[in-house]
Amino acid sequence: MLSKFYLTTPIYYVNDIPHIGHAYTTVAADVLARYKRLKGFDVLFLTGTDEHGQKVETAATEAGTTPKELADKVVVRFQDLWKVLNISNDDFIRTTEDRHKKAVNEIWNLVKEAGDIFLGEYEDWYCTPCETFVTELQLVEGKCPDCHRPVDKLKEESYFFRLSAYGDKLLKHIEENPGFISPNVRRNEITSFLKEGLRDLSVSRTTFDWGIHVPDDTKHVMYVWFDALTNYLSATGFPEEGYEKYWPADLHIIGKDILRFHTLYWPSFLMSAGLALPEKVFAHGWWTVEGKKMSKSVGNVVDPFKVVEEYGADQFRYFLMREVPFGGDGDFSIESLKSRINGELANDLGNLLQRTVSMIEKYNDGVVPGCEGTLCGVNDPPLSDIFVTLSGAYPAHMDSLEFSKALSSTWEAIRELNGYVERCAPWTLAKEGDTERLGKVLHNLADGLRLVALYVYPFMPATAQEMWDRLGIDKKIEDANFEAEVDTEDYTPVDGNIVKPGAPMIPRLD
Ligand code: ME8
Ligand code: MG
Repeated sequence: MLSKFYLTTPIYYVNDIPHIGHAYTTVAADVLARYKRLKGFDVLFLTGTDEHGQKVETAATEAGTTPKELADKVVVRFQDLWKVLNISNDDFIRTTEDRHKKAVNEIWNLVKEAGDIFLGEYEDWYCTPCETFVTELQLVEGKCPDCHRPVDKLKEESYFFRLSAYGDKLLKHIEENPGFISPNVRRNEITSFLKEGLRDLSVSRTTFDWGIHVPDDTKHVMYVWFDALTNYLSATGFPEEGYEKYWPADLHIIGKDILRFHTLYWPSFLMSAGLALPEKVFAHGWWTVEGKKMSKSVGNVVDPFKVVEEYGADQFRYFLMREVPFGGDGDFSIESLKSRINGELANDLGNLLQRTVSMIEKYNDGVVPGCEGTLCGVNDPPLSDIFVTLSGAYPAHMDSLEFSKALSSTWEAIRELNGYVERCAPWTLAKEGDTERLGKVLHNLADGLRLVALYVYPFMPATAQEMWDRLGIDKKIEDANFEAEVDTEDYTPVDGNIVKPGAPMIPRLD
């Protein structure tokens, strides 16, 4: 049986339209999903939208519409963006769907039966934009410590979740499962937070109506995070039989802004309900734009649709994954995007493919030369050594979510192939009539590019397919098997293929 791999992105709020930050998380998850499929995993890749809560209700009121109508409108923006970015999600969940409401009701009941839900009264400072209560101590100059906006004193009847009972259990879980929170800096942050102790968590509201109602006490609406986090279970079919085919999730990819929700609340709810915990939560860093925090008021919010239209989906995907080590913060600028497109994509990669295909056209009538009459992969040291190294380094980087390193290792091979062209000078071999050496060099270039396409595929799926097409490989790269392709015996041969010339695959920008 195939091993399963269940990975998720956050579900995004529909009170805002998608920007580069949302694109980032979803592209990263897509890269991993595509890689895992190449490795033969049965992947469930989930994304979706978070449609309940006061924020959405307020945004709808401001827009003169109902929350559901607002959600229906904005959800299309997200779904369209995922199409444009070539996102291969297997499912898309909306928290207004019945399957989700069913799962949320079920988990609420389980937690209640466990004795972890009680009725009380809540009074504290509340930051509506952040959907969080803040203690007097945490206030910064009387304002929200996170977004610096004004807070309100809120007192209401509320159901509570006995979060305080889970601090020690969480600490123990984190200690016993060092990979549970990643990267390390995030694990340390949560561990120190836990050591200060947890307060019980208010998990219902009576002051607004847009959400899932508490079973048996419908004047209460569930706290939006109790509702939202459960989406990860809903998509597995929970509570129906068979949900354990994919649950527990192997990986929740999130931004560092929602770390506590995913590493304190979510595992506590699950423990209380007697359900398995996700294997890993990875919190990536934050994008700024030209050195500034992205904000509507500054007017520097990057529209991913525009970037894709102007620069291409694969180019944008590549940039996001290459520019910053996954986990760290990054800065977006059109200058740096252009410079990577021109340097690494157009020059290093695009030009290599272009040269290779046209030399095969010119010197061997468009037929990829065989290698000593038999199948064989890249076979000319030191070029071949680079590919051997890459076949070990790349999976190691991908498995530890070091996307940027996986790309830089791949680019070492690309640079080596370019160096190989210069060193071997096929044009001289042709002039001298050394057809044997010429054949071997052209073979190695084509076969090296076959492998490069495979490594590039999770990041730039359309480009990788285009590479295989031009190399005359009559196969969908998404159906390839990673091990088979990097193996020296069982790969897809290029020998005897007819190459297909074309315009530069990745045009240079001025
Ligand atoms: O928090 N840099 O939704 P949300 C990097 N609905 N990533 C960014 C970013 C930036 N500048 N801005 C946003 C919510 N993100 C909840 C989640 S999950 C059960 C519920 C990304 O629409 C990043 O992944 O505010 C962040 O965690 C997420 O968008 C927040 O999206
Ligand atoms: Mg947010």
